[in-house]
Amino acid sequence: MRYTQVKRLRTVEEFRAHVADLGVDIPVAHHVDAPGPLGEAVTIRDASAGALTAPNRFAILPMEGWDGTADGHPTDLVRRRWDRIGASGAGLAWCEATAVRADGRANPHQLLLDRSTVDEFATLRTLLAPGQVAGLQLTHSGRWSRPDGAPAPRIAYRHPWLDRRVDATDAHRFDDEELDALAQTYVDAAVLAHDAGFDFVDVKHCHGYLLHELLSAHDRPGPYGGDLDGRMHFLRTVVSGIRARTPQLAIAVRLSAFDLMPFVPGSDRIGAPETIEANYPYAFGGDGTGLGIDLTETHAFLDAVADLGIGLVSITAGSPHYNPHVQRPAYFPPSDGYQPPEDPLVGVARQLAATAEITHRHPDLTVIGSGYSYLQDWLAHAGQEVVGRGDATMIGLGRMVLSYPDLPADVLAGRALLRTQICRTFSDCTTAPRHGLVSGCFPLDPFYKEHGDRVELTRVKKLTRGSHDDE
Ligand SMILES: Cc1cc2nc3c(=O)[nH]c(=O)nc-3n(C[C@H](O)[C@H](O)[C@H](O)COP(=O)(O)O)c2cc1C
Ligand code: SF4
Repeated sequence: MRYTQVKRLRTVEEFRAHVADLGVDIPVAHHVDAPGPLGEAVTIRDASAGALTAPNRFAILPMEGWDGTADGHPTDLVRRRWDRIGASGAGLAWCEATAVRADGRANPHQLLLDRSTVDEFATLRTLLAPGQVAGLQLTHSGRWSRPDGAPAPRIAYRHPWLDRRVDATDAHRFDDEELDALAQTYVDAAVLAHDAGFDFVDVKHCHGYLLHELLSAHDRPGPYGGDLDGRMHFLRTVVSGIRARTPQLAIAVRLSAFDLMPFVPGSDRIGAPETIEANYPYAFGGDGTGLGIDLTETHAFLDAVADLGIGLVSITAGSPHYNPHVQRPAYFPPSDGYQPPEDPLVGVARQLAATAEITHRHPDLTVIGSGYSYLQDWLAHAGQEVVGRGDATMIGLGRMVLSYPDLPADVLAGRALLRTQICRTFSDCTTAPRHGLVSGCFPLDPFYKEHGDRVELTRVKKLTRGSHDDE
């Protein structure tokens, strides 16, 4: 099974014709203006902290590198990444997943924010550009925690499908008192983030991690489950704690606006739904089948977010752990993934449509979209049209930033894109950490081409048949 590769579509017209053939909607400008709509400043409101101004419509999305020290301190690799983000020209930097507590680290090299690391976070902050709005993503990985390498899930509720994936049948289920204490730890971390100079913190609600899991805890008894009010109790507790202790700090939320059921490789290695049961109530923003979208609760969540005085959200979808084609559309899957069950542009269009609906429905929110990297040569053409139509306030860049950090600066200056740096979604930046290696753009970034982990990455890709023919 092979889909048309975007790099083979040499003109905007060819790209548009291909998108039309797929029957999806991806708006694309004929040519990119400089600085154009993407160069317009945007004001981000926060009822407590006041307004922040991003000088343009590019945002860097959070991208961790699996490259901190064993006790959560930044390394030279982390500093290199942040330095490149600072030089990117993007108006906003939404910096990487940072654990608030050691047991919630997604891997033994995830950054940890506490009193012992806060000064180094302050140094990281100085690597970002003056005028670039800077935020830090705070997280507890919940079901997907691996603080020492092996799965150590800590769950919000029992899940008939995902419990098997991480052998969570006997996993620790957070009780209410533990969640009360964890919420205070988020507040402590937010205070430290403010001390380190960040403009905002993200109370992360995406990708299957703990707070995203809480959003589907319908059957959980007590204050943290049940109706949407209960499922948002954790967020409300954290927000009121932050407002009380550090009112000058803005708050943001990164949200998986919709989710689908887990996918698995079929006999042909193409991804397929794990179950054909028609009832799947565990997907927040889903329609109850596990395969469809219904944003009713998502809108209610975002109304409540706005009522909390929060003005900034990043929209994403699904999870890299159980349906990666939803979350990060790619032509080449990571080694533990599956061949795409759809043209990856269909996945891009799915995120675009949800983001557009949300942006139009919540005009007081600054909405950053995700999943644009697969647009490749046409990312700026689509980004300009999306922003121009008001289908998103800002264009978030994930993988593209690893291969081509200067893309925002080039687009805003009217320079032609450097084709050799365009992310072709080889997924090595995901495959490497799945095998305990650091993440980076091994195929295209000269630094990682020379990095010692590349030899091991090549070996494991051969073993897992994850290698591809284009590198
Ligand atoms: C290597 C890697 C690390 C990531 N780390 C994070 C993270 O720390 N927090 C987060 O919310 N999303 C993370 N993501 C998801 C991205 O922010 C983004 O949503 C996704 O890659 C889709 O956007 P793109 O098409 O521009 O890559 C990561 C993705 C990759 C590939
Ligand atoms: S390794 Fe590089 S080219 Fe591959 S998906 Fe990651 S950023 Fe893109």
